[in-house]
Amino acid sequence: MANYEDVFKKIVAHCKEYGFVFQSSELYDGLAAAYDYGPYGVELKNNIRNYWWKSMVNMNENIVGLDSAIFMHPTTWKASGHVDAFNDPLIDNKDSKKRYRADVLIEDHVAKIEGKIDKEVGKAQKRFGESFDKDQFIATNPRVVGYNEKCSAIMSRFSAAMDKEDLQDVKALIEELGIVCPVSGTKNWTEVRQFNLMFKTQMGATAEGASDLYLRPETAQGIFVNFLNVQKTARMKIPFGIAQTGKAFRNEIVARQFIFRMREFEQMEMQFFVRPGKEMEWYDHWKESRMKWHQNLGMGQENYRFHDHDNLAHYANAATDIEFKFPFGFKELEGIHSRTDFDLKSHQEFSGRKIQYFDPEINENYVPYVVETSIGLDRMFLTILSHSFKEEEVNGESRTVLSIPAMLAPVKAAILPLTKKDGLPEKAREILDALKGEYNCQYEEKDSIGKRYRRQDAIGTPFCITVDHQSLEDNTVTIRARDTMEQKRVAISEIQNLVSEKVDLKNFL
Ligand code: GAP
Repeated sequence: MANYEDVFKKIVAHCKEYGFVFQSSELYDGLAAAYDYGPYGVELKNNIRNYWWKSMVNMNENIVGLDSAIFMHPTTWKASGHVDAFNDPLIDNKDSKKRYRADVLIEDHVAKIEGKIDKEVGKAQKRFGESFDKDQFIATNPRVVGYNEKCSAIMSRFSAAMDKEDLQDVKALIEELGIVCPVSGTKNWTEVRQFNLMFKTQMGATAEGASDLYLRPETAQGIFVNFLNVQKTARMKIPFGIAQTGKAFRNEIVARQFIFRMREFEQMEMQFFVRPGKEMEWYDHWKESRMKWHQNLGMGQENYRFHDHDNLAHYANAATDIEFKFPFGFKELEGIHSRTDFDLKSHQEFSGRKIQYFDPEINENYVPYVVETSIGLDRMFLTILSHSFKEEEVNGESRTVLSIPAMLAPVKAAILPLTKKDGLPEKAREILDALKGEYNCQYEEKDSIGKRYRRQDAIGTPFCITVDHQSLEDNTVTIRARDTMEQKRVAISEIQNLVSEKVDLKNFL
């Protein structure tokens, strides 16, 4: 396929055409960075959420769930530091009047240099063939070493400037790197300034009586303020975790790349409370555990990597991202943060209530430390869509297939009577009735069987079950596998086992 922009455009168009994702309020020409999930999208989203929930909550005896309100007392956001520090550094181009995130401009510049490294590696790989040692090449090739040093120097300088809140130096860096506005092509930049990302709203009927509220920018604070409620009522002993999924809102200035960066999105977060001093052990544990969860989906180990943060958020003492190789390059998919006791301590101060845990093992009271895992559900959806979208040539015909991991597929099986008569629809419906209580299935009798296969491929259905005249005689059907397109004749009584082996979550947890 062509360049990544073409691939990405095709994925976005496919999402719309097949009812996965629509632009929000499309009828009114759309609302930027907000999206609606269609019939197949909502199934995929539910399945991803369910996979996360089951592996977090059901599979870990020491993790329990929560569903806290989106609206929270406004002091929450003062205590969490979001009112003062949840900012993006912005810069405008005076000619195009376009606004950018300064960090994104710099990261994109670095990504271009990294692209040059990839090219050098690709060329060398071709030249040396099987004897090529990639690690050695990267460590010793003067050009690649130079590029890598350049990238490190840029990112270190940027991190240092952000740590010192030296926005003038961030602007100087953009100028020194010769970064131009992608629209006007000029370097005519304004100063860099901070912009708070929280959405404000009001609660109450009258203007005088109303109080300012924020739409939560992360679900985590609902967990922190409920720490004691959950610990006491579920009688949890440290170390233990609280998990929740739900909407979060950020007034992203540069919202782009479809559902990668949205203004309204969903998070799946887990806060793990530990004894002070044990946080790095648990940080390593959750790094490894979360990476395994991703790789369990079989979307290629090489498509994931860790990216440790140099520039830490206001609450963290260590942080890493699990990055995924999207069509537009490696980007953050999930964050794992060691948040210290920052949040609980701060809520203790602002609320004037004690938030402590009595640890019977060491006979001490303390404010627990926290290791969090935080993943965007929509971003996870995009990894699956972008990895599974394929255009293939089959017997001279082209097909578009979504090779979604079978356990997450929106429709698990399609039941297709070969013709609309001779009792085939009735037989097919019997099979549907036996399966539909457990799996989301579809019954389709319109169009040729080939067309119906193509439609199911395009929405990622792992199994097509075709009922023909032989089915009436010997209770067998053909079952076609989406990825290999292989067809087997099997007894109707075997269908349940065949499907369940590939799609039941319990086989993958
Ligand atoms: N509680 C920690 C926290 O919110 P974060 O790194 O800001 O950390 C966690 O966000 C995850 O939420 C990200 O890794 C990403 O998957 C997702 N996310 C963040 N902002 C997003 C946005 N504007 N649109 C879609 N997903 C987003």
